[in-house]
Amino acid sequence: MTSQQSPRPAIVVVGASRGIGRAIAELAARDDAPVVLVARTIESLRVVEAAIKQAGGEAFSLPVDLTAHDAASILEEFLSREGLVCDVLVNSAGYGLRGAATALPIADQVGMIDVNVRALADLTLRLLPGMVARRRGGVINLASVASFTPGPYMAMYYASKAFVRSFSEALYQETRRTGVTVTCVAPGPVSTEFLEKSGANRAALFKALPKASPEYVADCAWRGFKARRRLVIPGMSARLAILMAGILPSAALLPLVGKLQLRGNDPCPCGSGKQLKHCCRAGHAKGGTASA
Ligand SMILES: NC(=O)c1ccc[n+]([C@@H]2O[C@H](COP(=O)([O-])OP(=O)(O)OC[C@H]3O[C@@H](n4cnc5c(N)ncnc54)[C@H](OP(=O)(O)O)[C@@H]3O)[C@@H](O)[C@H]2O)c1
Repeated sequence: MTSQQSPRPAIVVVGASRGIGRAIAELAARDDAPVVLVARTIESLRVVEAAIKQAGGEAFSLPVDLTAHDAASILEEFLSREGLVCDVLVNSAGYGLRGAATALPIADQVGMIDVNVRALADLTLRLLPGMVARRRGGVINLASVASFTPGPYMAMYYASKAFVRSFSEALYQETRRTGVTVTCVAPGPVSTEFLEKSGANRAALFKALPKASPEYVADCAWRGFKARRRLVIPGMSARLAILMAGILPSAALLPLVGKLQLRGNDPCPCGSGKQLKHCCRAGHAKGGTASA
């Protein structure tokens, strides 16, 4: 870029190598803007980049691990080197883990804060001021229906998504008169690798709910963002699940979610190393408040 040229507005999709992020990137690329694809797996990013280019769009691949504390700086340097500025940021990278908090590896659980929370917040806080100064663009953050209730046996994941929704909705309000939009997307189960990798697909809760396609969620997210919506909930079953979470008292909701998310052959949360069905299942399934 020469010193006379101003940087070109780009759409940055974080978590673009597959799933919902990939679907949003392919949709966004039709808008005649360059798309910057971010995730760890360069081979998968190149596949998405090639698909976008084949469809007549422009795309760049940037392999970054969001657990690295300099991830956001790496992105900023890349944009500046390519003569781009972030007009729209899509935070779709994230992962979940099903199981008792006392049984799952601590590093994997804390890693969810790094990817789902810290990286999302860091990227948003760094890129949003430029959008506000230019009075255009915005941020799409992927939360989940999980953001509407605490989630026993996926505790860290649900808590991380509660952060995403709270943070995004607050920023929506702060920026809504500046020409910038912050949209939070809260899908129910979506048929992506997320369900297998997190173990969620083996829980009764996720088996029972219908799965949306990543393309459907991407379409709802992109259209909702353009319509300047604060919150996008793709699909009727996700809306119903959120309605239930709002109506049921915690004393009923927490044991219900817990029961639907833990299976008999999972390790018992008491730390005995035994399967739940051969250990203290009744106590964990019932829940209740602590008594002296
Ligand atoms: N699928 C669902 O049922 C569902 C429901 C509600 C909400 N969500 C949320 O929607 C978002 C997208 O989920 P998805 O279903 O599309 O999941 P997915 O198919 O597993 O894709 C996750 C994306 O995040 C990237 N990623 C993960 N860890 C990363 C790291 N450390 N650094 C950089 N990139 C990383 C992955 O790329 P690499 O592995 O190549 O790095 C991939 O591109 C997530 O935030 C998820 O919590 C999903």
